[in-house]
Amino acid sequence: MRILVTGGAGFLGSHLVDSLVAQGDEVVVLDDLSRGHRSQISSKAKFVHGDVRLIEDWKKACKDFDPEIIHHLAAVNGTRRFHNQADLVVDVNVNGVRMAIKIAKEYSSKLVFYSSPEAFGEQENMPLGNESQSLFTPAHLHQRHSYGTSKHIGELLCQFEVRKGLDVRIVRPCNVYGPRLHGDENGQVVSMMMAADPIVVHGTGMQTRCLTWVYDVVQGMIRVGEMPNLSGKAYNLGSTDEISMLELAQKIADLRGVDVVFTEPNHGDSKRRLPDVSMNTEIDWFATTSLDEGLGQLL
Ligand SMILES: NC(=O)c1ccc[n+]([C@@H]2O[C@H](COP(=O)([O-])OP(=O)(O)OC[C@H]3O[C@@H](n4cnc5c(N)ncnc54)[C@H](O)[C@@H]3O)[C@@H](O)[C@H]2O)c1
Repeated sequence: MRILVTGGAGFLGSHLVDSLVAQGDEVVVLDDLSRGHRSQISSKAKFVHGDVRLIEDWKKACKDFDPEIIHHLAAVNGTRRFHNQADLVVDVNVNGVRMAIKIAKEYSSKLVFYSSPEAFGEQENMPLGNESQSLFTPAHLHQRHSYGTSKHIGELLCQFEVRKGLDVRIVRPCNVYGPRLHGDENGQVVSMMMAADPIVVHGTGMQTRCLTWVYDVVQGMIRVGEMPNLSGKAYNLGSTDEISMLELAQKIADLRGVDVVFTEPNHGDSKRRLPDVSMNTEIDWFATTSLDEGLGQLL
């Protein structure tokens, strides 16, 4: 199949591209390399350097290609940037999906939009499923939810187009970890804990997450793109094994032989995030790799 992957130089996108080319798909990557790396893009994929906010860059990527499926992953993420670059987060994440929709209509492509459990904000009723309400704290307190609201708007725009006949599927990856994860100050918790010495835990460390191994998630992403009759459906690609951040820190500290220290809590950090995965029977996908197995491989 001919598949366009935006954000294909990033963490999830580059793993997806590897798997797609390995199964014989023709792949074009559109990425501005603001966070991803050229070296992570498979040599079997074509790379177009461009910005997903610009329709002319999309056109370059689609020239002589005519994508059958678009996986739209390009986005600005990283918790610190939600606070420090809230304007950029909203601009790229909202305008990126608007352009993705425009192109999917023009080329009659299936669109897979990558949302996030953060689209539910600080909703405390678990598990988070397709009927959960989004709950965002007042904007004057902090800008953490620039990201979650941008993903919520992305879902809203996709569902709007589904009603008008476009084939759009939604994926919410849930705390994915694995090789190539960013270990910088904008990184994800596992990679930050893998890199830091000592390991820093925010608040009490009692907040829990479900961490999901990247190679499990990529199989689900491919399935959501390929299977027929999934338009308008949304899937949480996540494990349901919860771990507190303190337990995780201790586990990684033991593996690496470093100490754990505590610092102030992050604004807007949810206490618990457990995905509802009951909808995943439709795509026959569930996370299978345990955290110990994944961390061992990552180390
Ligand atoms: N990794 C996770 O656990 C997770 C969880 C929930 C949602 N997601 C979503 O999945 C997608 C991929 O996440 P990731 O972890 O691979 O992130 P990532 O930061 O590694 O990848 C994002 C890619 O988008 C590119 N990009 C950013 N702005 C761009 C622009 N204006 N034009 C073109 N390219 C641009 C970056 O260079 C990068 O390669 C994102 O949409 C993210 O919100 C990821």
